[in-house]
Amino acid sequence: MLKTGFVGWRGMVGSVLMERMQAEDDFRGFEPLFFSTSQAGQAGPDVGIDVPPVADAFDYDLLKSMDIIVSCQGGGYTEKCYPELRKSGWNGYWIDAASTLRMADNSVIVLDPVNRSVIDRALDSGVRDYVGGNCTVSLMLMALGGLFEKNLVEWMTSMTYQAASGAGANNMRELVSQMRAIGTGADALLNNPGAAIAELDRQVISCMRDASFPTEYFGVPLAASLIPWIDRPMEDGQTREEWKGFVETNKILGRSDNPVPIDGLCVRIGSMRCHSQAFTIKLARDIPADEVEALLAGHNDWVRVIPNEKEISMRELSPARVTGTLDVPVGRIRSLNMGPGYITAFSVGDQLLWGAAEPLRRMLQILLE
Ligand code: HSE
Repeated sequence: MLKTGFVGWRGMVGSVLMERMQAEDDFRGFEPLFFSTSQAGQAGPDVGIDVPPVADAFDYDLLKSMDIIVSCQGGGYTEKCYPELRKSGWNGYWIDAASTLRMADNSVIVLDPVNRSVIDRALDSGVRDYVGGNCTVSLMLMALGGLFEKNLVEWMTSMTYQAASGAGANNMRELVSQMRAIGTGADALLNNPGAAIAELDRQVISCMRDASFPTEYFGVPLAASLIPWIDRPMEDGQTREEWKGFVETNKILGRSDNPVPIDGLCVRIGSMRCHSQAFTIKLARDIPADEVEALLAGHNDWVRVIPNEKEISMRELSPARVTGTLDVPVGRIRSLNMGPGYITAFSVGDQLLWGAAEPLRRMLQILLE
């Protein structure tokens, strides 16, 4: 039986991965070993089968005895351990949630409902490194895969509404703390239906601007506000999150040599773990919105086309509805008045599921097939 090591399984992405693997009864047909950077020697997690005590995530000899290593530990761990393992001649499969190796020549970004053929070709040619993609990119491709598959996207912009979870667990806590501070501060005015709205508004903004407002992780208020910048600056005013939209999409599609132009603006909003995105798409040829809908709906088992109507769009195209599910609804699809071949669409997806854990879980299954 193949030996598979898991590193970073207690963290946010790792624990979602563990939940998904248990839900799908995946802990069969291989020998799991759980590694930790800080809790070696403790009992392994309850995954429905007996597992050995937790191993040391810096025990290279033990790591080298694994056929497959799945890391959700983060980029720092990958930067430290991956080169050591490869230098020592380890030839196992490395499945990683971190971005460190995504754009390396010898890695594949995995999103099998979209690029199974790219993955299969890589496996045949001996590629050993399989990396989960950026969450907005993976969620965009799950929603729009039907258009890319038919080479119908001439160019595209993506304007994002990204959740706190993309910034980390501490940021999720901080968002809720900010909401609490605003709610607690406004309590007396909310309880008085006669209070003037201007007074409530002044109360909220003075709370958000107060030095005691919790901003340790985001640096600024997110609740009742937004942050139009994600990750570090690249060249020409683009952020790294926006840069990934172009390079990772084209790498996933196996068309880095003939890339589809993609750009946009990435914005953090006060959603907990669902990223939403608004797309403007220039089609390679003019096709009506209902044909676009049919192509999108037929692409994979998780995308759900939502009719462009008020009630259902409000209900189905929202983080409140999608969080915790693998559904990727896409709606607001209509032809734009810019001219023939311009359409718009809006999608929502759970940033921790299709945006992080699920592509890794499925890659492990592909290796174990
Ligand atoms: N970089 C993303 C974000 C999450 O900040 O929302 C991880 O892909």
